[in-house]
Amino acid sequence: MRKKLIAANWKMYKTPAETRDFFRDFLPLIQNHDRNNNDEIVVCPTYLCLDAAIAAAKDSDVSIGAQNLYWEKQGAFTGEVSAAMLVAVGATHVIIGHSERRQYFGETDDTVNLKLKSALEAGLTPIVCVGEVLEEREAGLTDDVLRRQCLRAFHKVSAKKAASLVVAYEPVWAIGTGKTATPQIAADAHAIIRAEAAESFGQEFADKLRILYGGSVKPENAHSLMSEEGIDGALVGGASLDPKSFAAIVKY
Ligand code: 13P
Repeated sequence: MRKKLIAANWKMYKTPAETRDFFRDFLPLIQNHDRNNNDEIVVCPTYLCLDAAIAAAKDSDVSIGAQNLYWEKQGAFTGEVSAAMLVAVGATHVIIGHSERRQYFGETDDTVNLKLKSALEAGLTPIVCVGEVLEEREAGLTDDVLRRQCLRAFHKVSAKKAASLVVAYEPVWAIGTGKTATPQIAADAHAIIRAEAAESFGQEFADKLRILYGGSVKPENAHSLMSEEGIDGALVGGASLDPKSFAAIVKY
């Protein structure tokens, strides 16, 4: 049985004060709920708010992750943050290869691979994002795109080292658009990703791999998505910014 993981990707939203306000309101809302197989909850604010989030979540079951990292340990890399630095402030998770980073910041399958290796090396739980754009889906290329993104992300990563790996399927056409993949579309894509993981790491690894769905997840669709056999959680953007709506998703 795979433990579900529900993660908030706050993108470029919230100041430290707003981060503290969020946790003040959010934590009481999830305190007594039946944790549905003890699902894991992760919140990923900007680098600037990691400290505030980690302090606010200290006595809760909520873990804190970053939205990005750089693969070198340290050096003359202006504006970048290493895996070791994230660990040093108390982050436990990191999102890698989000489509917005691929689209606007030149992230490629190769940089995703380098980032994945450095995150694993530092003991962070990586959440590697993959997903097709609309034109690729319409051209029948979803399968190829997902396989390529996974294959390259996993290049020269061993199953042993990758034990904590989490993959998020985020169809780009469903991000911030209000268009959600149907549970069936998501489940089909998750099956492709799991098959690719089986080829890279073996069947046993693939059976344990958690694959999250992301793209317009809301309180109204969380339950049906999360009820699909191959969907092991959610990566939530817009709806995670509001404590009530993220709490409702956590309680799906
Ligand atoms: P939305 O939930 O706003 O569509 O964003 C999804 C996402 O990109 C999460 O990483």
